[in-house]
Amino acid sequence: MSSLKGKNILIGISAGIAAYKIPLVVRLLKKRGAEVKVLMTPDAQQFVTPLTLATLSQNEVYIHFTAAAPSGGSQWNDHVALGKWADYFLIAPATSNTLSAMVHAKCNNLLIATYLSATCPVFVAPAMDLDMYAHASNQRNLEQLQASGHQVLPVGEGFLASGLEGKGRMLEPELIVEHLEAFRPNANTLAGKKVLITAGPTYEALDPVRFIGNFSSGKMGFALAEAAALRGAQVHLISGPTALDAQHPNINIHRVQSAEEMYTVVHQYYADVDYAIAAAAVADFKPSDKKDQKIKKNQGGLDQISLTPTPDILASMGERKKQQMLIGFALETADEIHQASLKLHTKNLDAIVLNSLNDPGAGFGDTNQVTLIYKNEQQIPFALQSKKELAHQLWEELISDVD
Ligand code: CTP
Repeated sequence: MSSLKGKNILIGISAGIAAYKIPLVVRLLKKRGAEVKVLMTPDAQQFVTPLTLATLSQNEVYIHFTAAAPSGGSQWNDHVALGKWADYFLIAPATSNTLSAMVHAKCNNLLIATYLSATCPVFVAPAMDLDMYAHASNQRNLEQLQASGHQVLPVGEGFLASGLEGKGRMLEPELIVEHLEAFRPNANTLAGKKVLITAGPTYEALDPVRFIGNFSSGKMGFALAEAAALRGAQVHLISGPTALDAQHPNINIHRVQSAEEMYTVVHQYYADVDYAIAAAAVADFKPSDKKDQKIKKNQGGLDQISLTPTPDILASMGERKKQQMLIGFALETADEIHQASLKLHTKNLDAIVLNSLNDPGAGFGDTNQVTLIYKNEQQIPFALQSKKELAHQLWEELISDVD
């Protein structure tokens, strides 16, 4: 179930081009069962219509301090009541002007008046052009808002309305909603932490067209990377071949193919991280003799393949472990707890996540059911659920163990 179900979410739209994406945010929130109200600055109406927002949110849209009363005349749009109504207040897009008004309590529109009256968690999704976003004044304002306890969301990178390319785009609607979804008031966060995650299968080449691989989709590793990034961590995601893409700007994705390549990239970053999670399904063996030319089926050489072990990446991380909290995965089909706990100790891990292929719904699909085993043998079972939700729960558990 979505953590947003039943939540009252107030969206404040300021006048930036990215305002055209807010109807999608409203849709995504409504789909998750949230109640949504929208308020906007008068200039924001140039970019998205109140009618669209009212239709999608199924609530009236607030723009001015007063509005036409049903009985004629005008009525007060009560910013205090709106602020109190909200469980979360999302300000998106947050323009330079709005950020500055928030920092300086410059109460010249209904959006800022409501912001100053709201006592709920506030999320800010900045959207600006390249140099404006990088400007020291805007960066100072964002730092100040963060210091006030607000959730300042990262910006996206790419084409900007000006024609320039770089940092400054408003975060995409799906990711804004995931930030809200992942938010746990008073939850531990990973802000300032560095995380390394391995994901996906590895492919061990036999010749230029064939390889030995496995069924891993990479979904669990990608979900763990995203959940860490949503908690503020800087993430190195080292992934074997998958069709997946990492959306969050805090995720640095390194694509590799073989176990050896994964080993090399892991050790470029491992020494420096706070957490390392090995979710990759690394091939244990590679062909001893990779051919430079395609092996022809009639010329022999495919009927018997000689194999050599690949490096055990996780074991090598265990050997070099210092400050890192090191977590492995174990995919087992028999005597699961015992086998997983053997791996935990021989690879010098702090914890291991046991996937049993005997549990329906665990393994290669979209869902997973796991047991987390700590090195003191404490076992934490998790219910069958989506890999995305499980990733959030695993992080909450791992972070709370450190405190
Ligand atoms: N792992 C790794 N490098 C390898 C093999 C495994 O980093 N060459 C990591 C996996 O990412 C996982 C853990 O080790 O976190 C356990 O992987 P698993 O395949 O369950 O176990 P193995 O150690 O390969 O042992 P076995 O295949 O005998 O069960």
